[in-house]
Parts: sequence; structure tokens; C-alpha cells
Amino acid sequence: MSTETTIKPLYNSKNPFQARHTVNFKLTGEHSEKDTRHHEISLAGSGLVYEVGDALALKCTNNPELVELTIQTLGCTGDEIVKVKDVEKPLRDALFNDYTIHFVEKKFLAKAAEKGATKLAELLKPENAAALAEYTTARNATRDYVDILREFPEVKFSAQEFCDQLRVLAIRLYSISSSLNAHPESVHLTVATVRWQAHGRKRGGVCSTFLAERWGGDMTAGVFAQTQKHFRLPDDKNTPVIMCGPGTGVAPFRAFLEEREISGSKGANWLFFGDQRREQDFFYREQMEGWVKNGLLTRLDLAFSRDQAEKIYVQNRMREQGAELWKWINDGAYFYVCGDKNKMAADVHAELINIAQTHGGKSPEEAKAFIEEIFMKTEKRYRRDVY
Ligand SMILES: Cc1cc2nc3c(=O)[nH]c(=O)nc-3n(C[C@H](O)[C@H](O)[C@H](O)COP(=O)(O)OP(=O)(O)OC[C@H]3O[C@@H](n4cnc5c(N)ncnc54)[C@H](O)[C@@H]3O)c2cc1C
Ligand SMILES: NC(=O)c1ccc[n+]([C@@H]2O[C@H](COP(=O)([O-])OP(=O)(O)OC[C@H]3O[C@@H](n4cnc5c(N)ncnc54)[C@H](OP(=O)(O)O)[C@@H]3O)[C@@H](O)[C@H]2O)c1
Repeated sequence: MSTETTIKPLYNSKNPFQARHTVNFKLTGEHSEKDTRHHEISLAGSGLVYEVGDALALKCTNNPELVELTIQTLGCTGDEIVKVKDVEKPLRDALFNDYTIHFVEKKFLAKAAEKGATKLAELLKPENAAALAEYTTARNATRDYVDILREFPEVKFSAQEFCDQLRVLAIRLYSISSSLNAHPESVHLTVATVRWQAHGRKRGGVCSTFLAERWGGDMTAGVFAQTQKHFRLPDDKNTPVIMCGPGTGVAPFRAFLEEREISGSKGANWLFFGDQRREQDFFYREQMEGWVKNGLLTRLDLAFSRDQAEKIYVQNRMREQGAELWKWINDGAYFYVCGDKNKMAADVHAELINIAQTHGGKSPEEAKAFIEEIFMKTEKRYRRDVY
């Protein structure tokens, strides 16, 4: 039986728990191309509960260096009082806590165009949408407010007028990578730090760099659990599960495995994991290998994409094990996938259809209908958490 609670959660977006960040270390090696980290956040004294499969919502703050640079480039002191949703506060506070400041808003560009930035007026014409997107969000060439204000020094904004053009700083969601039963009063995350360089300055994803670089000591940040009922373990602990989670997609499966272990679940567990290189990017290697040794993980199939000339992905491993995978599905296994939505999840989906065809003796149409209608919708044994 699931311990699903119907009690209203104690914490939500309007009333998050102010948590401390207690553990932060790199899961990736010194020579990895990535900086993916394990984070632990203390829930001590909060009463905040979550189930494996849930996500943690985190309200971060902006990089104070970017806040100061933005204030300076605006020609402000930071002490100007601005109104944020009817609350008066200094500009510095508003830019630190309330607004997105590392990407420009179209609304701001339109205002700057009104104030005389003719190049922006041209870019904002509907027929120039592609050029506008290139100007604001091109890979390694994104622009923030500092870039625009420097490019058009003739354009001036008062503190309030500037804030009125900005988008609020939204919460970010992270798949929880721990079981609360294995780690009471704690929540673990597995997060890829997003960093890039543009127009001569270092840039970063606001929340992943907050976690990696800025949240520590006594500093608190608002968190709450985002219930994800569609991504629960099967109620029956004897049911086999197949988990496909390359990269940070492994997060909820670490939580699943911790939960299956601590609850003494007898169902078989099969994990497909991969990332770029075995020596650099094998997250939670000791724990995973320990689970293979003690039998919790019935199978661990690994796909390190860049250890050989040809890319090997999780769906290649699925294909190699197609007959066995089909047998598990026939035996009642649930299939879970987590991680990259755009490419990986689509390719894994296509491979499931291929396996139903090759090993289930189905026509292409029957295989597609089985995976999408029966397996996913009717039986709800195919569950996704992709981003
Ligand atoms: C349900 C759910 C679960 C998730 N679980 C996890 C998880 O377990 N682990 C995890 O790491 N993430 C997870 N994510 C993603 C996470 O929520 C954030 O989106 C991610 O951490 C990036 O947020 P950020 O604030 O650091 O970056 P943002 O400030 O949002 O910036 C990211 C944006 O930067 C831009 N960008 C990035 N690189 C470049 C570049 N080189 N050039 C130009 N632009 C660039 C892209 O447009 C990208 O969208 C999950 C998302 C969802 C919805
Ligand atoms: N913009 C950034 O800097 C940044 C940083 C981190 C994460 N992200 C995004 O966050 C999400 C998760 O990233 P992540 O670090 O967890 O891992 P990821 O980028 O999804 O990579 C994990 C593994 O999946 C492989 N992969 C790439 N394409 C695939 C496909 N079509 N099918 C199956 N596997 C595939 C990767 O191989 P190869 O890379 O060798 O092809 C790598 O081995 C992705 O959407 C990613 O784009 C973005």
C-alpha cells in the first residue's frame, strides 16, 4: 500500500519551508565536462514530508554580483524604493529576491525601443522573430539587462520603471533523489549545474548555480514538496520495475531503490543509467554497485556515450536486452523514464515500441497502440517524469 497522504501539505508556494543546505558535493569527476552535484537539504523540525517520485520546489535568489552589476549599469544606488506586488522594498532586495535578471524580457526590449533603441524596434517586428530569438537566447550568446543597457547607453530607466518590465523569479523543480524513510528529515537532489559564457561574461542557470555556489551556512531558502502522483512506485511491493534514467534522470530512481530497500520490497529492480564517461560521470557508483552486490538491483545496464567512437545510449542497451525487457513487461513490470524530455525520452519511447514489435510479434500500429494506449494510459505501467 502506498502511504499517499490526503492531508493538505504543510508547505506550498505561498508558505514554503525555510530550509538549510547541508551537503553539496560533485558527483562528476575532475575531468568531466559536467558539474553534476549531490545536494542535501535539511527538513529538521519542519514536518515536511514527501514520497519517492515527488519533486522538490525551490525558490532561489539571484547572484549578488549580477544584482550589483545591474544596479550599477542602471545608474542606480540600489537603495531606491520600488513596489513589488504592493510591497515597498529597496531595488537591491527586489533584484535579489523577486525578479529574473539573467535573461531579458521582450517587454523590456519594447520599452527600450520606445525610449529610442531603434535597433531593438527593428528586431521586435513580427517578421524578425528569429533574429530576435538569436539576439536574446542564442547558445553561448544570451543577453541580460546589463548587455542591453550597455549597448544602448542613451536609454534610461528609473528603478520602478525597470522593475515593471521584469518577469518574476520562478521556483525550480528537482526530482527528489532520496527516500525520507532512509534519510529522515532530509531531502536529496541530483543537479546538473548550468553554466556558459556569453559576451565576455560568465553566465549561469539561476537555481542550479544557487545550489552549487551560493546556498550555504545559515542561509535559508524556501522549499516545498511537489506531489507527483503519476510517478509513484507500484503499490504492490512484489511488482518488478524497470527504470531508465540517464544523467540527472537517475535522481528519482536512487530514491525508488532506497525505498524498495528499506521497505523490504521483493519486486525485481532493473536500472538503465548512463552519461558521458564511466570514469567521470558514474553517479552514485558505490551505492549502485553495492545494490548489484546485495541483489537489490537485479540488473544494472550502463550506457556511457563518449567512452567509444560510436555513441551508446540507454535505448541501445534496451534494444540489446529487448527479449528480456519484453519478458519483464509481460510479467507485469512497470517502466519508468526520467531525464531529458526532448531527445532521450522520445528515443526511449520509440525503442519501447520497437521492442513490442520485435519481441511481442506486433505490427507497427499494434506496438504503438500497446505502448501508448494500454501500457501507458489503461494500465498506467509506463510512467514518465521528463524535463
Ligand atoms: C519535474 C522536474 C524535475 C526536474 N528534475 C531535475 C533534476 O533532478 N536535476 C536537474 O539537474 N534538473 C532537474 N530539472 C530541471 C530544473 O528544474 C532546472 O530547469 C534546471 O536546474 C535549470 O535551472 P536553472 O535555474 O539553473 O537555469 P535557468 O536559469 O532556468 O537557465 C536555464 C536556461 O539557460 C539557457 N542556457 C543553458 N545553457 C546555455 C548556453 N550554453 N547558451 C545559452 N543559453 C543557455 C537555456 O535556455 C536553459 O533553459 C527538473 C525539472 C522538472 C520540471
Ligand atoms: N544547457 C546546459 O548546459 C545543460 C546542462 C545540464 C543539463 N541540461 C539539460 O538538462 C537535461 C538533463 O541533463 P543531464 O545532465 O541530466 O544529462 P543529459 O544531457 O540528458 O545527458 C545524459 C546522457 O544522455 C545522453 N544522451 C544524449 N542524447 C540522447 C538521446 N537522444 N537518447 C539517449 N541518451 C542521450 C548523453 O550523451 P551525449 O551528451 O554524449 O550525447 C549523456 O550520456 C537535458 O535536457 C539537458 O539538455 C542542460
